[in-house]
Order: sequence, then structure tokens, then C-alpha cells
Amino acid sequence: MKARVHPLRRPLRGPAVRVPGDKSISHRALLFSALSEGESRIAGLAPGGDVRSTARCLAQLGVPLVRGDGTPWSAPPRASDEAFAPPARPAGSPPLPERDPDMGPDDAIVQGVGMRGLRAPVSDMDCGNSGTTLRLLCGMLAGAQVPATLVGDASLSRRPMERVAAPLRQLGARVRTGPSGRPPVVVEPGGAVRAGAITSEVASAQVKSAVLLAGLFAEGETSFTEPARSRDHTERLLRQMGVKVTARGTTVAVRGPARLSPIALEVPGDLSSAAFLLAAALLAPEGSSIALPHVGVNPTRAGFLDALTQLGARIQLDLKREAQAAPGGEPVGDLSASAQRLRGAELDADLVLRAIDEVPILAVLGAVGSGTTVIRGAAELRVKESDRLAQMARGLRAMGAQVEELPDGLRIEGGRRLHGAEIDSAHDHRIALAFTVAALAADSPSVISGAEWADVSFPGFFDLLRSLGAEVELVD
Ligand code: S3P
Repeated sequence: MKARVHPLRRPLRGPAVRVPGDKSISHRALLFSALSEGESRIAGLAPGGDVRSTARCLAQLGVPLVRGDGTPWSAPPRASDEAFAPPARPAGSPPLPERDPDMGPDDAIVQGVGMRGLRAPVSDMDCGNSGTTLRLLCGMLAGAQVPATLVGDASLSRRPMERVAAPLRQLGARVRTGPSGRPPVVVEPGGAVRAGAITSEVASAQVKSAVLLAGLFAEGETSFTEPARSRDHTERLLRQMGVKVTARGTTVAVRGPARLSPIALEVPGDLSSAAFLLAAALLAPEGSSIALPHVGVNPTRAGFLDALTQLGARIQLDLKREAQAAPGGEPVGDLSASAQRLRGAELDADLVLRAIDEVPILAVLGAVGSGTTVIRGAAELRVKESDRLAQMARGLRAMGAQVEELPDGLRIEGGRRLHGAEIDSAHDHRIALAFTVAALAADSPSVISGAEWADVSFPGFFDLLRSLGAEVELVD
């Protein structure tokens, strides 16, 4: 699908826009509640393809879970799409829960099967485009000693998996990766996990979560030390579910064997999705404004807001004090922004780690703002859904920006008017979304091909933009 995006001619107006639920928290809420003892209810899950992949994989492990409105996770978006055929549940899986008439399609009821209740899947588990699904499941299955083969789409099949497999092997698990350490990832039978201390060369919440999940099954303390502190959604949610989690500096530890209590959770809006709308409002014609209620602003993850301050943007954040005490313990706030001029900034590695998924849209803001923007410490972007540094450099140059690609970042000479261009999403939702926003700020129409990849994290993005005043046409 192609999106033809026209320059914004009139102000963008969004008085109260609900962004999709946080993807990172949604994956964890489903996975951890599957391991709990009892029924969990989760409201406002991320509606995109990634979280659907997690739900489908859990169904393959025999976990009884339904969407709040009773429709199956596997509902095919297109009748012809075989990849979305309902996943086969292992024989003897417990029956699915009753639907709740008060819940909707983005809510879930999960009947936890406990730490020992997962059943071996009868076929390969397809994690789709989702690295979080594959890596967290790998830790969970290694800990639970459930043999399985984890596969993904073309983009996920190119991503490094030894970063999770190697530490899990260090703990005693038997985990194998495919050629060059990429998927398929095979969790083999046997290989009971022993508690241990893992040190990682990369700061990664996915690797940390995989190790901690495996550690929940081992006797004693399992710790994970990383060079800098990655997002802490796993720690917060595990604590809320009754697990003892300790944190010292960049080391986090859990004590096993653990038991998880079920949870009732409202997932906050995803700051990584909100970032595209905030950026669109900042770059839009004068008079534009947008208000985004109930967005997660976890400080280990909210570097985007600090980056905006450095770029000279004024954003309103109304922090909801009560939210931190709620299940999941995640800080939540209402965000709003209006059109304004931006300047260049030096975004360093500490900040970039806390804004890792927002680098593509920060690069767009840097290209439009005046002065030079330098982004460093972002080498991890080369192994995301695409090589995001290369894709951003290529696409922004095609739009007339002056961009130098650094080994771990980008140097962008801002202040030039962007021109319309043809951009390919490279099977990467954040590239599709970032260039759609860039196209709104350009002086002639752009065509984004592979625009459907936006659905991985932000289904309905183009319709939403249209409802806010943008001109976007979708063509097959
Ligand atoms: C995520 C962690 C980050 C992030 C990804 C989601 C998570 O990846 O980029 O989109 O939910 O744990 P890494 O762990 O690879 O840094």
C-alpha cells in the first residue's frame, strides 16, 4: 500500500487524541499474566500487529486468552492472508475464558496457567515482525523448559538473537540460533535454568527481560547487569505481580522460583506513537495544536521529551500522580504541543538510550529545525526492524536535507525546506510513520510505499491524520 501525503496547508487540530496502548507494556502484560495463577484483565492493549503476535504465540502455548469483545486474536485482517489463520492450540489446552460484554477489542482476559502450565506448541511459533515477542518468549520458554521453535518475518529473521541465546545458555538453558545468530531460535528440551549473574555488552530491555523471565524459574537470585539502564517496564510489572525485584545501579535481580499474582491493568498510551503526533503538531502551520491524554512517561523511556526541550520545543506535561500507584506502577501524563520553531541540538548516548525508538522522528525534527542536530550512541538502530540510521539518512536526503551518516548516529544540517519524495518504509513501521510526518512538513506531495507497515504499532494512523486536517490518500 502507498500513502500519498500532501503538505499540510492548514493547522492540525487534535483536542483530545487517544494514542494506541504502549506496546512494550502490552507484551509484558500478556506474557506475565500467562504465567500468573488466576485471571488477569488488561485494558487498552496496543492494537498493532506486534502485540497480536504475542497473543497468538501464547495461544499456541495453550494459554486461555481472549480479546475483551470475544473476537479471536487471529481474526484475519484480509481473508486471503494465511499468516493470520487461527493458531493451533495444543491438545488438552484449557478452555478459553468467557468474554466480558463491558470490554472491547483492545482489552484482554488472560487465564494464567502458572509457572509450570505452558504446553509445548504443536508448530513453529511465528513472532511476525516483533523482536520483543521473540526475545521475551525465548527467556520464558527457556526458563519453563518448553521446547519450541521461534520464527519471524523477513525483517525479524535478519535480527541478532545470540544476545538473548548466549546469556540463557550461560544459565544452563539449551537455546540454538540459526545462521549468523539469527532466527529461527530453537529452545531445546532439557537444560534446566540455574540462577546466575549475567553481564551484557548491550543495554537492552529485551535481553534483560529474557534473562529475568528465565530467572523466575531458577532457584536463587538471577541478576542482569547492562552498561546503562534500559527501560524498566519488566521490573515494575513483575513487582506489581508480587515478585521480589531488586535494582542497584545498572544491575537488576529477581529471586526464584517465583509465583506471579494475576493483575488488573490499564495500559497507558504509547509515548513512541505519541511522538509522531507531537512532532506533526510542532512542524505544522501556525495555530496547530494537539492534546494527547493518558500517555506513559516512564523516565527510563521518556528521553523524547527531554530531546524536544533540547530542540527548543515547549511541550505541556500534566503528570497524573495517582497513576504511579496503580497496577504496573507506570507514570502517566497528559501531553500537549503546538506549532513552534525548533533549533538543532546534540543528543548524546544517555538520552538516545531513553529515546531509542524515537530517533527516526527526532531526525525529522532536526532536519526541519534550524542549526545542526547530532545524534550519537544510536548504533543499536542498525539492528532494529531495518537499519534505521541508513533509512533515515537516505530518505531525508531524498527530501533535500543534508545528512551525514555516522557509525552510531546522524549529523543533520537543519533549516532546509524539505521537498516531496518517494520513500520506502523498508518493512519498518517507524520509518513509515516518521516519513509521513516529514511529508506533512514538505513543500510538495510525497509517496510512502509500504505504508501498511505503520499498522505494526499504529493502526489507523493515516485515518487519524486525516481527521486532524491532513490530506493523505491510500492506494493499493
Ligand atoms: C523494547 C526494547 C527496545 C526497543 C523496542 C522495545 C522492549 O529494544 O527498541 O522497540 O519492549 O523491551 P532493545 O531491548 O533491543 O533495546
